[in-house]
Amino acid sequence: MKTEKEQQVKHIPLLDLKEQYRSVRSEIDEAVKRVIDEQNFIMGEDVKLLEKEVAAYCGARFGVGLSSGTDALILALKAIGIKEGDEVITTPFTFIATAGAITNAGAKPVFCDIELKTYNISPEEIKKKITKRTKAIIPVHLYGQCADMDEILKIAKENDLKVIEDAAQAIGASYKGCKAGSMGDIGCISFFPSKNLGAFGDGGMVVTNNKELADLISILRVHGSSSRYVHSVIGTNSRLDNLQAAILRVKLKYLDSWAKKRQQNADIYNDLFKGTDIVTPYTPPHNIHVYHQYVIKVDKPHRDALIERLVKSGIESRVYYPIPLHLQKCYQFLGYKTGDLPNSEAASGSVMALPVYPELSREDILRVVKVISSFR
Ligand SMILES: Cc1ncc(COP(=O)(O)O)c(C=O)c1O
Repeated sequence: MKTEKEQQVKHIPLLDLKEQYRSVRSEIDEAVKRVIDEQNFIMGEDVKLLEKEVAAYCGARFGVGLSSGTDALILALKAIGIKEGDEVITTPFTFIATAGAITNAGAKPVFCDIELKTYNISPEEIKKKITKRTKAIIPVHLYGQCADMDEILKIAKENDLKVIEDAAQAIGASYKGCKAGSMGDIGCISFFPSKNLGAFGDGGMVVTNNKELADLISILRVHGSSSRYVHSVIGTNSRLDNLQAAILRVKLKYLDSWAKKRQQNADIYNDLFKGTDIVTPYTPPHNIHVYHQYVIKVDKPHRDALIERLVKSGIESRVYYPIPLHLQKCYQFLGYKTGDLPNSEAASGSVMALPVYPELSREDILRVVKVISSFR
């Protein structure tokens, strides 16, 4: 049993990738060595195999490995024909990449408010944002739980819109039994190192059931060429490294067991926070949450002071996301103002993520909750 003083000095990070690496080190080192021995770094066999394995894992027919989740979004938008003058509806309560991809594809992001309980885009609000120019919707499965896809797909069908799922944070999550990324026209996944399935650098993938879209994205990622030096469309270089694919193939085998640990950790937090004024994550019964982040709600200025208090106790936490995208400087030109999307603004002022990574111990969680509960 450690003394109180010893416990206090132990640092609890938001994520411990070193600990995860230690647990699969020999397999990963072997995979890396194999790729180095083969010296086949670009579009190798591991990329092809990972595409099949991730697609199967997500319940989709095709996967196309890409250099990041951001490129997955951009190429998905290009593949469905998004161009200048088009509008794409999305949430402002997400990482900048979601909206940035829309802008980089030449279109206009139209920000739509979220549901306060799940932090995901509100289908009711989507309906109000549809215009003659709207071509697609990008719901983001924030923190590791799916948006209300039945409603979103229904609205899309009624209005002849495409749906690109931003599943960057949600690989393995499910909605009514369907995996994140498999429900819309295209699903976009990020393998950024801190994601639930993280590479040793950047990486991403699109998954889809549509062969034409998969084929087009496969061409777009290699300079628009279907055979060497023959270019049917203008593409870019957005390939996934074979080395990353080999690492990800090892990690994919453990993804479900890691998600289970995250869910168990979330359950411990939920139990310990019962009866306190901390608002714990809400998961509708049809959702399986993979807790990329475990996010609580605490009103500002209380929240910012609490984060400071946790820092003093050696505990990391973070606000995802402190400024909703419609109020970011880079989107000033769209003309939004404070008060336009109240739920997103309220969430930005009150959420904070606590450590929930698989290797976190019960003792660590107890310590986090103790600091939070004693804070007044
Ligand atoms: C919701 C969301 N969309 C898109 C991305 C972009 O992914 P990447 O960092 O792999 O480009 C991220 C990752 O950071 C994300 O969290």
